[in-house]
Amino acid sequence: MTLPLFDTPDPGPQTLSPGAMLLRGWARAQAAQWVAQVVAVTAQAPFRTMVRPGGAPLSVAMTNCGAFGWVSDARRYHYTATDPVSGQPWPALPAWLRAQAQAAAAAAGHPGFVPDACLINRYVPGAKLSLHRDEDEADLSAPIVSVSLGLSATFLWGGLRRSDPVQRVPLQHGDVVVWGGPARMAYHGVNPLKDGHHDLLGSARWNLTFRMARARYPAADRP
Ligand code: SIN
Ligand code: FE2
Repeated sequence: MTLPLFDTPDPGPQTLSPGAMLLRGWARAQAAQWVAQVVAVTAQAPFRTMVRPGGAPLSVAMTNCGAFGWVSDARRYHYTATDPVSGQPWPALPAWLRAQAQAAAAAAGHPGFVPDACLINRYVPGAKLSLHRDEDEADLSAPIVSVSLGLSATFLWGGLRRSDPVQRVPLQHGDVVVWGGPARMAYHGVNPLKDGHHDLLGSARWNLTFRMARARYPAADRP
């Protein structure tokens, strides 16, 4: 018997590897709100092309909100408190986004996540992210929460070594991936985006990754 679509049970969190969970469709019901929040951020801090150390441009356009933003420039990758384009602080992380990220982390088994940074990526057809680790954060005890909107993409989920086998995970509009603990330093990437059209975002995919960029406790206050 084929169940009608609306009766399909939610599969619940799926484990990609220990510490890494896929929350299929977790953000879909409120996708319009996610999009509105990103639009508000980009009014203050527009998407821009960053260059990587050495000078080659990244194919993914980026911006940030939060106390810190991830920046790539000709010299290095790092977090900054100000947007290098405007010289102003990055737009604040909206309370709604922070609460959503915290709830997604908790649903994936990482309670108490309080992100201080949110990198927002915009992929257009052909844009990709090579295999990398998120390693510029000071507090690696906190997970990464990644939210996908718009066109589908193939997410590459590897292991702790660059040479480890890679799973190809199709990520759709509203899917959330959370990785932390033993998976925090896993290699991951995104295959070149295929052409297509999405009702909310047209021919684009947006991805938000929430991070804890700075140590939870300043050095002087560390327990
Ligand atoms: C990232 O690794 O920063 C983004 C991953 C994604 O776009 O799904
Ligand atoms: Fe990443």
